Order: sequence, then C-alpha cells, then structure tokens
Amino acid sequence: MAGARKEEGVPQMAILGAGIFVKSQYLPRLCEIAHLFDLKAIWSRTQESAAAAVDIARKHFHFPRVDCKWGDNGLEDIIQDGSIHAVAVVLAGHSQVDISLSMLKAGKHVLQEKPAASCTSELETALCSYKSILADAPGHLIWSVAENYRFEPGLVECKRLIASIGKMMSVQVIIEGSMNSSNPYFSSSWRRNFTGGFILDMGVHFIAGLRMLVGCEVVSVSSMTSHVDLTLPPPDNISSVFHLENGCSGVFVMVVSSRSPKTLWRVVGLNGTLQVERGFQGQHGYLVSLYGAEGQSKTSFFPFSGVTEELKAFINDVSESTLKKGSHFVAEPRLSFVEGARDVAVLEAMLESGARQGELVHVKKF
Ligand SMILES: *[C@@H]1O[C@H](CO)[C@@H](O)[C@H](O)[C@H]1NC(C)=O
Ligand SMILES: *[C@@H]1O[C@H](CO)[C@@H](O)[C@H](O)[C@H]1NC(C)=O
Ligand SMILES: *[C@@H]1O[C@H](CO)[C@@H](O)[C@H](O)[C@H]1NC(C)=O
Ligand SMILES: *[C@@H]1O[C@H](CO)[C@@H](O)[C@H](O)[C@H]1NC(C)=O
Repeated sequence: MAGARKEEGVPQMAILGAGIFVKSQYLPRLCEIAHLFDLKAIWSRTQESAAAAVDIARKHFHFPRVDCKWGDNGLEDIIQDGSIHAVAVVLAGHSQVDISLSMLKAGKHVLQEKPAASCTSELETALCSYKSILADAPGHLIWSVAENYRFEPGLVECKRLIASIGKMMSVQVIIEGSMNSSNPYFSSSWRRNFTGGFILDMGVHFIAGLRMLVGCEVVSVSSMTSHVDLTLPPPDNISSVFHLENGCSGVFVMVVSSRSPKTLWRVVGLNGTLQVERGFQGQHGYLVSLYGAEGQSKTSFFPFSGVTEELKAFINDVSESTLKKGSHFVAEPRLSFVEGARDVAVLEAMLESGARQGELVHVKKF
C-alpha cells in the first residue's frame, strides 16, 4: 500500500558521485528517509566506482531498483530522463558547479555538496548562469548547497537562544581538526588541489555555523596563516580576526590537524554567554551551554542529525515545488546556493589576508 503510493507521489532522484561521502553518508542517511523519494540511479565517471556504490545501495540500504550509470553516456541518460526530478551532486570540488549547471539546464533540481565553488569569481559566474537558467525555466528550479551544519539541532538550538545573552560583545570559533593519515579524506587529491587546501573545504562548515549563530554577515577579516604540518597542503592553520555587521568582532582559529580535536563556537553577550561544542554522550553531537547573568548555567546535548535533516529539507522542497508548480513555493533558505557562496567568500577573504600578512580584507558580498 505504502509502496504503491510512493510510486506515484514522490520525487525521483539520482546521485552523481560514488565516492566515500556517498557510500558512508548519503546512502545510509537517504535510507532513513527512503519513504520520501525514489532513488533512480547512481552515476560515476567510471563503471567500476558506479557499480561499487550501486551494489552497496542495493544490498545494504534497500534501494533495490537503482540503476548504474557511468561516463558521458550515463550522464546524458540522466539528463534526458524526464522522470528524474532532482540530483545530488557529490563530486570532486572542481567539477561540481559545471555539472550542477548542466543539470539545472536540463530542468532538474540540484543539491550540490559544499563548497559552493572554489572561489568568489567562480561563484559570480555560477550565480549569473543560474539566473539566466531561471529566467528561461517554467516554475522554480532549486540549486541547494549541502553543508549540513545549518541543520544540526545543536546549532539550531543556539540560534534560538542567542537573543537571551543580550548585546554581543565577543565571538570565538576554535577548530582543531583531525585531518591526519587516519582520516578517509586525507589523501583526497582534489581537496589538496584547492587554493586554501583543507581550510576551504572543511572551513565552510564552521563559517556556516558562525554566520548562523550570530545572525549577521562577516564584513572584514585580518588573518595570519602558516604551513606547519608538511604532510598537509598549505596553509594548514589560520588565525583570523573578523568583524561582524552588528559591530561585534571575534576570532576564528583553525588548525587542520591536531592531536586534540575540538570544535567550538562561543558568543559572549552583555547578559550571558552561549557556547556550543562538539562532544560525545554515547553518540556524537553538540553540547550547548548557556551561562546566565547570575552565574547559573545549563548544558544540553544534541546528537548529530544535520545530514539527514538537510536531505529531508531538500526532498521536501523538491516535492513542494513540483506539487505547487512554483506558484507559492518558497525554498528552504538555509539550503540556498547564496548561503554556501557567502561561506566561501568569508574563507577566501581570510586566506587572502593571510597571504598578505594580515592586511584587512573586505568580504565579497553575495
Ligand atoms: C539584559 O540585562 C538587563 C539588566 O539586567 C535587562 O534590563 C535586559 O532586559 C537584558 N536583556 C536581555 C536581552 O535579556
Ligand atoms: C586541480 O585543479 C586544476 C585547476 O583547477 C584542475 O584542472 C585539475 O583537474 C585538478 N586536479 C584534481 C586532481 O582535482
Ligand atoms: C599552526 O599550528 C601549529 C601546530 O598546532 C602551531 O604550532 C602554530 O603556532 C600555528 N600557527 C598559527 C599561525 O596559528
Ligand atoms: C589522527 O587523529 C586521531 C584523532 O586525534 C587519532 O585518534 C589518530 O591516532 C591520529 N592518527 C595518526 C596517524 O596520527
């Protein structure tokens, strides 16, 4: 019964990409919400990698009917297949924007993995092309960027609590990553090929968290960068002072590979302090602490579920947009391409300032 309803009503999707993140995150998380959509195909450049992901999807994640597509012909099949409403683009950073745009041109909604693009000039061109595709498209075509942090329950809770600390005085974002040779992404060639190395690829998550928490934009930055761990692409750490639109300033410190992993945002206000830090309580998640004006404090734990929540929001957007044919449809703002673009712009300014020994750099506006 449910199966029959699913056949007709739900959007059909394809995944472009068959790498580590598809196999370890997309497939299991999509499996949790498999009643909301139909997985029609998985595509990769090579037959071997597409077949490996399809095999996992069929055997372990209950997507028995997923097709295996590869190479230029496979991609063309997906473009031509009018029954595919949406695609997830989970490819090497450098090729994502071009492929996303070709899918949008073919009338498909796109959820593209972060980073939105590798630099602000690519972002500008991309947004221009998107605008012209929208002008020709009937209804609304969604271009979302998947960064998942804007959907993490811990960060969402902080956004809800931030007003209670009163006027913002200082912000700290401290990231000590664990990108060493044990990490599955350590050897990823395209991540090493980015200007900014892992700082851009990983950093967009933490900037997304920062922007969401403070509820305003970063205007300018001044940074020092260095290259200490020579097994990593340069730079591998950055210390940046940033200035917010609301007049408050703060620091962003990121070490790509440390012995003591830490992920922390802390906002000090006139009436209290709000802190969110990655932690473990039987499962991975965020500890949210609110310190009040009278010295009292309260800490709550929120397990991770950002990837699932984000995929759900995208599929919901696709369903609504198809149903309402674009008329009264408003896409989830936390997923919009522009949000992803703003995260890249902040990091680009931070890296640029680092390359110029701390000179003040203004963040490009999107
Ligand atoms: C901050 O504290 C002051 C003084 O106690 C109070 O008047 C004000 O309403 C508080 N603001 C917020 C946002 O809680
Ligand atoms: C590295 O970047 C260059 C320029 O953006 C690109 O042409 C090349 O394909 C990239 N190589 C890898 C392995 O991603
Ligand atoms: C970069 O990280 C290393 C190792 O944690 C540290 O010794 C160094 O001071 C850092 N440099 C900057 C500029 O943050
Ligand atoms: C990489 O970092 C993790 C987390 O700190 C640690 O458990 C692991 O031993 C490290 N691996 C290497 C090869 O240093």
